[in-house]
Amino acid sequence: MDLLLHFCEWLPRLPPNLQPFQLLDQLPFTLKDLVITLLSATHPIPEPDFATLRLQHKGPSELPYYGRSPPVYPSPIANGTSNNLWATAYHEAHDLVAQMTVDEMVNLTRGFPGPCVGNTGAVPRLAIPSLCFYDGPSGLRGQEFVSAFPAGIHLAATFDKDLMYRYGRALGDEFRGRGVHVALGPVAGPLGRVARGGRNWEGLSNDPYLAGAAMGAVTRGMTDAGVIATPKHWLLNEQEHRRRWSAADGDAISSNVDDRTLHELYAFPFMDALRAGAGGVMCSYQRANHSYACQNSKLLNGILKTELGFEGFVVSDWDGQMSGVASALAGLDLTMPSAGLFGPHLLRAVHNGSVPLPRLADMATRLLAAHHHRRQHLSYPPLTIYPPSPPSRHPPVDVQSDHALLIRRIATAGTVLVKNLNSTLPLLSPRYLAIYGPSATPMLSPWSNPDRFAGDYTASFNRSTLPGTLITGGGSGGTTPPYISSPFSAIQSRLPPNSILRWDLSPPSAHNPNPTPYPNAETCLVFLNAYASESFDRASLTDAASDALVLSVASWCTRTVVILHTAGIRIVGAWSRHPNVTGIIMAGLPGQEAGTAIADVLFGDVNPSGRLPYTIAREERGYGGTLNSTRGEGYFAESWFDEGLWVDYRAFDRDDPEGEGVEYEFGFGLSYTEFGYGGLEVEVVAGMTEEEFPDPGVAVVQGGHPGLWEVVVRVRCVVGNEGAREGAEVVQLYLGVPGAGEDTPVRQLRGVERVGVLKPGEEAGLVFELTRRDVSVWDVGAQQWRMRRGRYEVYVGASSRDFRLRGGFVVG
Ligand code: BGC
Repeated sequence: MDLLLHFCEWLPRLPPNLQPFQLLDQLPFTLKDLVITLLSATHPIPEPDFATLRLQHKGPSELPYYGRSPPVYPSPIANGTSNNLWATAYHEAHDLVAQMTVDEMVNLTRGFPGPCVGNTGAVPRLAIPSLCFYDGPSGLRGQEFVSAFPAGIHLAATFDKDLMYRYGRALGDEFRGRGVHVALGPVAGPLGRVARGGRNWEGLSNDPYLAGAAMGAVTRGMTDAGVIATPKHWLLNEQEHRRRWSAADGDAISSNVDDRTLHELYAFPFMDALRAGAGGVMCSYQRANHSYACQNSKLLNGILKTELGFEGFVVSDWDGQMSGVASALAGLDLTMPSAGLFGPHLLRAVHNGSVPLPRLADMATRLLAAHHHRRQHLSYPPLTIYPPSPPSRHPPVDVQSDHALLIRRIATAGTVLVKNLNSTLPLLSPRYLAIYGPSATPMLSPWSNPDRFAGDYTASFNRSTLPGTLITGGGSGGTTPPYISSPFSAIQSRLPPNSILRWDLSPPSAHNPNPTPYPNAETCLVFLNAYASESFDRASLTDAASDALVLSVASWCTRTVVILHTAGIRIVGAWSRHPNVTGIIMAGLPGQEAGTAIADVLFGDVNPSGRLPYTIAREERGYGGTLNSTRGEGYFAESWFDEGLWVDYRAFDRDDPEGEGVEYEFGFGLSYTEFGYGGLEVEVVAGMTEEEFPDPGVAVVQGGHPGLWEVVVRVRCVVGNEGAREGAEVVQLYLGVPGAGEDTPVRQLRGVERVGVLKPGEEAGLVFELTRRDVSVWDVGAQQWRMRRGRYEVYVGASSRDFRLRGGFVVG
């Protein structure tokens, strides 16, 4: 304290051209942030001079940037006040931690070698087991007798909250069944800001509301199964390029975003996961506003643990810890997969006072509380995770149950029909089909790495397509399917007697530009795919060889249907308006039931109701500054999110209201039937809109201020099936808040309901419940969600541009 006082007295005397930030290295860490705050007032952070810095620091330093993400200290000590479950868990965890030595606590904050992707230290004398952490968000990676669920982006395309819950529950049952305590998912970071982002498919759409609905439902499902859900990657992990520090390139990219966008887009879906009971959160690799996400006190201590009242633990992304003491004080609770900069370093730091003992106790308590919150300490299935590579003999531990049925259901519900002319689909009584393209049958040899379907990172690096049915993307979020239902076989088995099937499934290439034509074919199905993986961003949203294949088939086949398995956006402008391309299906990443699911839709057993979870522009350049990841120059690479809130349809709505550059808009998808909309009623719930801000007297619980989740407006309408086939309809509600079109996007999704299956002539009423958060904006000055005064526009329809009902309400 003396040192601090001395420093503060001395502060005003510093000449303004001195760079006092460089002196801060001399200060104990705990004083550093306070001093930085004081210094910032009189000495604005100078632009860095890298050449000088390199000399002064014998290497580059993050120091000049430090402070742009405001410091928030100390790290909040959680105590389980959110609800009774957490209270009990904390009571029990406190009891255990009180009996622990410092070494034992330290062992709970780091990873050890073991069977899982991550293994915490055990404390046998207190019967605390090593907790098993395992990937990933759509299935247990690298194991046998487990299911390969559709990827996150495919789930999002269902727009169905019930299926989202059942997905989380089934996934959670499989993790639990194999004794895994902590599931590393679901994913809302990346959200999908960058159209070519390599991991967007792991996430749940680039719209924060849809992603939030899915994050909440999946987390609830996993949590109900008894597993600790770990939403990731917190936060702003929007690109793969330079996501991590490297000796060759320098520091990881810094995602620089303003406070309002951070809240309204990127943190928003995590709120739902926290509210649904997530016990862990994984912090991301890259820097956020110049400070590494796993040592960013604003993100961890500030937003996550204070504003959102998080009771669980923060775990680093694998080897993503960049500092020891600093990360502990900034709110990191657990480093993975090894000791990282904790272990003996943390022990020393606690003994010499650099990390206060209560902080260490909080770190250990948070982990144990999450374990007890799921009651895993009472009984848990034995751990049956086997090293995938090299494969070994082991007893089959089958946790698949009947999940194949659910997988097929989600796979069909997330299939999006975007073009269907001349009643090409469904195929009612096909006599002669021709099938083309590599995505029609599974890859010939996908198991060179048993841990990673379709090859490891090296094999897949910069790959843009897969020579086989694409059911998942690559990297840690990929699945290892027990089998793959082949689209080709599933279609063949559905053909009526005496029909003809011809095929050419060779991957499109310059050597094979014109596959064999079959002039008598009635309908031609062309199966393409677009691959993406962790560790690299996509080079393109299209590929010339696949496009040439479609054009070749369409040159003679008058009913060409293109089916695309895609790990994200695929531009289709090269052939989408070709008169012979009469059908286009976006079949997403459907998981193991790829074949049965597409056959269900093609033959009309299931009426498609999936909707696009992103906008497909006519050309890649339509995405403007968010097409590509930022390359980033120099040691401290930066990515400025200066588009703010205007990502995807929010940007297209502003810049292209007529939709000339939009091929298929966010939320779009066709059906084999027609739906009519009517009966719009908007009810402002009495007494709920008087206060602009949630009651400051009410304590925050996990997920944020409880008032944010109170229903303030109800919107009702009726949807009826006016066509001849039964089907489900995804009804979407978009809201224009006061100020929309000025400082806020024209419309933002604030309600999704999948209605049906409705029989022809059948009607259903539905209710959208808008919460305080749904009708609020983040007020940067007040640091709170604020309900604006004025008129709100309500748009209800079948996509982000197809509105069938309009209304509004006024908040006075
Ligand atoms: C990924 C995480 C994953 C972890 C463990 C990291 O490289 O970014 O998403 O959970 O590895 O496999």
